[in-house]
Amino acid sequence: MVESFGNLIGGNWVPAKTGRTVDDRNPADSRDLIGRFPDSGPDDVSAAVAAAKSAFPAWRGLPAPKRGEILYRAAQILVDRKEELARAMTREMGKVLAETRGDVQEAIDMTYYMAGEGRRQFGQTTPSELRDKFQLSVRMPVGVAGLVTPWNFPMAIPSWKMMPALILGNTVVVKPAPDTPAATVHLARVLEEAGIPPGVVNVVTGGGEAGAALVAHPDVGIVSFTGSTATGRAVSETCASAFKHCHLEMGGKNVIIVMDDARIDLAVDGALWGGFGTTGQRCTAASRVVVHAKVLREFTERFVERARALRVGDGSDAATEMGPLVSAAQLRKVESYVSIGKEEGATLLCGGNALRGAGRQFGHFHEPTVFGDVSPSMRVAQEEIFGPVVCLIPCGSFEEAIGIANGVDYGLSAAIYTQDLNKAFAAMRDLYTGIVYVNAPTIGAETHLPFGGTKRTGNGHREACVQALDVFSEWKSIYVDFSGTLQRAQIDA
Ligand code: UN1
Repeated sequence: MVESFGNLIGGNWVPAKTGRTVDDRNPADSRDLIGRFPDSGPDDVSAAVAAAKSAFPAWRGLPAPKRGEILYRAAQILVDRKEELARAMTREMGKVLAETRGDVQEAIDMTYYMAGEGRRQFGQTTPSELRDKFQLSVRMPVGVAGLVTPWNFPMAIPSWKMMPALILGNTVVVKPAPDTPAATVHLARVLEEAGIPPGVVNVVTGGGEAGAALVAHPDVGIVSFTGSTATGRAVSETCASAFKHCHLEMGGKNVIIVMDDARIDLAVDGALWGGFGTTGQRCTAASRVVVHAKVLREFTERFVERARALRVGDGSDAATEMGPLVSAAQLRKVESYVSIGKEEGATLLCGGNALRGAGRQFGHFHEPTVFGDVSPSMRVAQEEIFGPVVCLIPCGSFEEAIGIANGVDYGLSAAIYTQDLNKAFAAMRDLYTGIVYVNAPTIGAETHLPFGGTKRTGNGHREACVQALDVFSEWKSIYVDFSGTLQRAQIDA
């Protein structure tokens, strides 16, 4: 018996009007069918948006601290179910259990954080230039938020978008990636159990057709998208012509700089975790390591030895250190970049092959792969691979390292390993990325600092922290004149 899942529309779980479904399979073993999910079309999206629109006035009218209480309850349910949700996520997405527990934890952190915003959402009061006049600014919700989420953080990223939208009084329609619909369904069920009213949270599963319909729907006032830069551009263009709020979180080509004074053991640990954590499928993944020539040989030997030794397998097996790619398509993409790297003249130092031997033939496994002698202009050093491939780029000085680090189209995360305080501070100033780490890898952002990037990574917005509230609200400035006379700003002295 295969379990069938529905869309959540106006508080009811219903099949898609298209009549179509998609199978959700375990990336470690494609014989394992997790369930059938609706493959939704524009009519399903319209129904979900209509439900969200009609739920908006009452949800907006509920005092924000009361909305916060629902979020606190949801966070506590996530705490209670963490292990079960993590196991379901490893089965659906493939990353190892320690990481799916971290993914649920990130959703818990975000939910508690935004629940607290129920009692803050601070605005301003400022003195007026006129007598007997009071003025303040307040946030107001926009209405219906359309959220399009990726498969690599199947619960964390939907929570990054849903929780700030909800605490401000917006209602939401979320369209998860077709590879990981179950995690979003689980999150929506938790919110239902916590008491979210019908229609406030709606889920429509499916592919690009559903996503495009959601982004274009005239009653969707805010779009928040995480995914590829190419899709992000299309989302942005659709939103621009309708003047919608549009938040984009897209690709990365993140870098770790290893200076000649770095602690090499620490840098190797960091590059390993940053490069191969989540099988390299993070927008924050450290896919480039720029190493000072003086320590290149030592770093390379130690890094390659450790990469080669990583145990690749089913993420639910406690011994596994790196799980499969999420899908056959993702595996093919990695294989094609390995060929590109070889053709460009990079030296393959380890890995380079899909793993299709016994026990792995039904999964999308690939060896941890390291390229040496990579020059900064090669495609493997410029384009996002989103897999377990790390490029080692030699450099001769701090200035050169910063130039290479900034010399890509993306700007999400960057790290420097150095014991020199002056270099650390210069790097903190000069790296043109949304996130900088010192003596830590490029991954592992926490929920209470802004998350996002420069250049083709984003469009100027940030998720998480209070900055997320800016994506999901409008400011209203209010002036109250209690003088009983006409006072003219800028004119009456
Ligand atoms: C992502 O890769 O899309 O900072 C998000 C990190 C995680 C989030 C990654 N907290 O690596």
